[in-house]
Amino acid sequence: MDNLDTTISHWVGKVPNQQWIKEDDNLESIGSTLPDTIADSRPLSEVHSLDLSLFVVFEEAALRVSGALTRSAPTLDTMNFSAQQTLDEARHHEIFLRRLEESRSYQGKAGTGINEAILIPPLRNFLDRCYEIVDRGEFVEGLSLMNLVFEGMAYPLYAYEQRYWEPVDPYLSSLVRSAFADEARHVTYGAQLVSELLKGDTKRKARVNKLCKDASQLMDEVFSYYVRKFVKLFDAVARQHKGLFADAEFAPGRKIFDTPYEEQIKTIHASIEKQHNQLITRAGIA
Ligand SMILES: [Fe+2]
Ligand SMILES: [Fe+2]
Repeated sequence: MDNLDTTISHWVGKVPNQQWIKEDDNLESIGSTLPDTIADSRPLSEVHSLDLSLFVVFEEAALRVSGALTRSAPTLDTMNFSAQQTLDEARHHEIFLRRLEESRSYQGKAGTGINEAILIPPLRNFLDRCYEIVDRGEFVEGLSLMNLVFEGMAYPLYAYEQRYWEPVDPYLSSLVRSAFADEARHVTYGAQLVSELLKGDTKRKARVNKLCKDASQLMDEVFSYYVRKFVKLFDAVARQHKGLFADAEFAPGRKIFDTPYEEQIKTIHASIEKQHNQLITRAGIA
């Protein structure tokens, strides 16, 4: 496979032994103590735990799907890759869940887990569809839904999340950056593997294309809801904590304060669409 080394030894050398060690050192130097600003502000602590709940929901779904995909992987490359992704997602799930618990403890709500309201019906529908497909052993369809649609549309958001949290909770911002590095690999490798698996099979390619189109419409609805909700919440808390967010940027070189939230929403949707389309093209199913 061109430029793609899916061996476990390559992954162990590059990811757990280098990337994660570097990131863990960085997290240790920041320290995991929850900043007082979050503990002292009810709106800020609510958006903090709501956002972390969403991370936990997304990472758990990615973990369950990539784990199931190892069962039906048709080649050594795809089996190894799904196994690596499973470990990556298990780590993401754990780090975000731990931060959520820390956030909850500060609110006097330790052990309450995720905020269930965050799991909206269209997201449940999408995930049910994913689980059905992977349970039927349809590998390329399952990988496309997870890595090109679900993650392919979610990963552009990680960069925004990282910037929004930077002034308030640099530890969380670093967790997001760390997960983002893995997600970028999942979507890139995913697109290449899908492209390899579908080579020469026009019929199946058309089926996967239709599946991804329908699923991305459903996820459009999901992201419209989340992007609007969170940008509005961030905008409101930023206005309540002007000093803290004075220099905060929502996009490189663009301050939150100088950008009306409708424009922030438009910009975020445009980057989701652009990056998702690039992946679909790279996977050969555009
Ligand atoms: Fe993940
Ligand atoms: Fe992922």
